[in-house]
Amino acid sequence: MENGKKIVLSGIQPSGIPTIGNYVGALRNWPLLQGEGRLCYYCVANLHAITVKQDPDVLRENTLSLTALLLACGVDPKESVIFVQSDVKEHCELSWVLNCATYMGELNRMTQFKDKSAKHADNINAGLFTYPVLMAADILLYQSDIVPVGEDQRQHIEICRDIAIRFNRSHGEIFTIPEGYTPKFGARVMSLQNPAQKMSKSDPNPNGFVSIIDTPDVIRKKLRKAVTDCDGIVKYDLANKAGVSNLLAIYTSFTGKTMQEAEEHFAGQNYGALKNETADAVIEGLAPIQAEYARLMANKDYLHEIMHDGALRAGEAAAKTVKKVYAAMGFNA
Ligand code: TRP
Repeated sequence: MENGKKIVLSGIQPSGIPTIGNYVGALRNWPLLQGEGRLCYYCVANLHAITVKQDPDVLRENTLSLTALLLACGVDPKESVIFVQSDVKEHCELSWVLNCATYMGELNRMTQFKDKSAKHADNINAGLFTYPVLMAADILLYQSDIVPVGEDQRQHIEICRDIAIRFNRSHGEIFTIPEGYTPKFGARVMSLQNPAQKMSKSDPNPNGFVSIIDTPDVIRKKLRKAVTDCDGIVKYDLANKAGVSNLLAIYTSFTGKTMQEAEEHFAGQNYGALKNETADAVIEGLAPIQAEYARLMANKDYLHEIMHDGALRAGEAAAKTVKKVYAAMGFNA
């Protein structure tokens, strides 16, 4: 809480252009949380991004374009604080302290670490292992009450809560204990090429994902190539028809229709119709965001101003928490 307002915090990595999965599962909800009684912090998590190899020029560009996309999706910099993680040095400072309050055994249980170390077997660095601790620092620095995240991040919220509760128990009431929040309508969008996997912006196969800034042609082409099955019936059945179910999830997310309405709409139609109409809905839904994004990217000075202002506002709140923590640790504060 700050001035009677609930604190909302979330983050997204600038490890590529966000996909429609990031949009539906996260970004789209961020502007909706702005408003009466809440103060939102939205963090471009570039410190998290370097747990896998990044080209510095690409990372710089992705950081800028992600900032533009947050604005284009409707995050209002007058209401919310948009900032770049590395601009606020307190993230690293608190992260170290929390590292010393986190057990190896807890981190060992994290499924994302297991997945990522299998994927990047040539670069299993310590940062990949302590990733959830940095994320806990992101959350606890702002005394966050609510943390909107996708299903895949729930485990990281749990460990953050465990760390905070334990820290408070031994050092006094320092941190607000946050709650994870996964919006009901935030469908989980899967890869178009392998619907057993989450759609990912770092998928080496570009046909697996639709990025928020893909052109209409590319969007249609990628959706046409999406894997389905051979029984030809448009029906939501995750266990047996993962590809078709994923297309239906995308369709309903972008049209606002219920799954039942969508099934009725496509009854007796083939997969071609499903793919085409899903493409129409995605193209139409992204059009205003893409237009605003292009406008913002032509005004880099403005984007830098937003980042600068966000860093100042975030830094002020973060410094207060670090001061409390340092005092509690016996450091000069
Ligand atoms: N780890 C999150 C993800 O990959 C991104 C993230 C970084 C985040 N810091 C955060 C999410 C803090 C919520 C709160 O999706």
